[in-house]
Amino acid sequence: MSYNLLKGKKGIIFGALDENSIAWKVAERAYEEKASFVLTNTPISLRIGKIYELSHKTKSILIPADATSIQDLNILFEKTLDHFGGKIDFLLHSIAMSINIRKGLTYPSLNYEFLRKGWEISAVSFHKIMQTAWNKKAMNKWGSIVAITYIASQRIFPHYGDMSDYKSYLESITRNFGYHWGIKEKVRVNTVSQSPSITRAAKAIKGFDQLLTLSDKISPLGNASAQDCANYIITLFSDLTRKVTMQNLYHDGGFSHTGISETMIS
Ligand SMILES: NC(=O)c1ccc[n+]([C@@H]2O[C@H](COP(=O)([O-])OP(=O)(O)OC[C@H]3O[C@@H](n4cnc5c(N)ncnc54)[C@H](O)[C@@H]3O)[C@@H](O)[C@H]2O)c1
Repeated sequence: MSYNLLKGKKGIIFGALDENSIAWKVAERAYEEKASFVLTNTPISLRIGKIYELSHKTKSILIPADATSIQDLNILFEKTLDHFGGKIDFLLHSIAMSINIRKGLTYPSLNYEFLRKGWEISAVSFHKIMQTAWNKKAMNKWGSIVAITYIASQRIFPHYGDMSDYKSYLESITRNFGYHWGIKEKVRVNTVSQSPSITRAAKAIKGFDQLLTLSDKISPLGNASAQDCANYIITLFSDLTRKVTMQNLYHDGGFSHTGISETMIS
């Protein structure tokens, strides 16, 4: 159902790869809510080809950019502002990658070159995107910037490895940059801490299927799906949440506040 929540709003969505991606679901919902947006992902992921389907379906243009490259981000924002003939209202950062996890390296045996690359992709890219938007004066007043995180930033999930540290850093960037955006432009910045859901990034995590089941049994409302996450993010892009900023917002069916459930005990 559409509520026209984003009518007239424009934005950039980072990180839609295939139909399971959280960013893909956000793009579909944003389109239903009458937003216009640019889709972006790495040049290599564009070669996989699926994202063209999404751009066609949502009548959006596609601009490749590696979110760790300031040069790519400058081009992305220049083309976006040119395309819309003015500023934008929302940004979604839905990007993560741990090379250490992909290579099966556990937390005590991290490779530091992989650590640096994963941190650049998963956390620093959020700062770079916001810095580029800041320098280009790209955001309208009362705009909204959202990144997606996971509770492993605060609690230990052993197979989440160095991604836990990236997520802590991502949440810290959110608070720090959120302060400056708020003062300067009344723009809000938040992270959504999402339940596990099966996507390409998630499949790289050892024991992910068991984690998904356990999390579902612990959460009083059950896991929040990627579709639920998209719905929530739409509210954060809308004018209904203008005074929410610098927060890490749990969207996890109650997982974050539950110690153990009766289902788990029995
Ligand atoms: N799926 C889950 O269980 C879950 C739970 C909590 C949080 N998250 C977070 O949600 C976000 C989206 O992940 P997803 O689960 O939809 O997986 P996904 O694999 O569909 O999305 C990850 C995206 O990051 C992109 N990416 C990687 N390197 C990039 C770079 N250098 N520049 C630009 N883009 C790059 C990939 O191309 C891909 O589109 C991530 O931040 C992830 O950590 C996922």
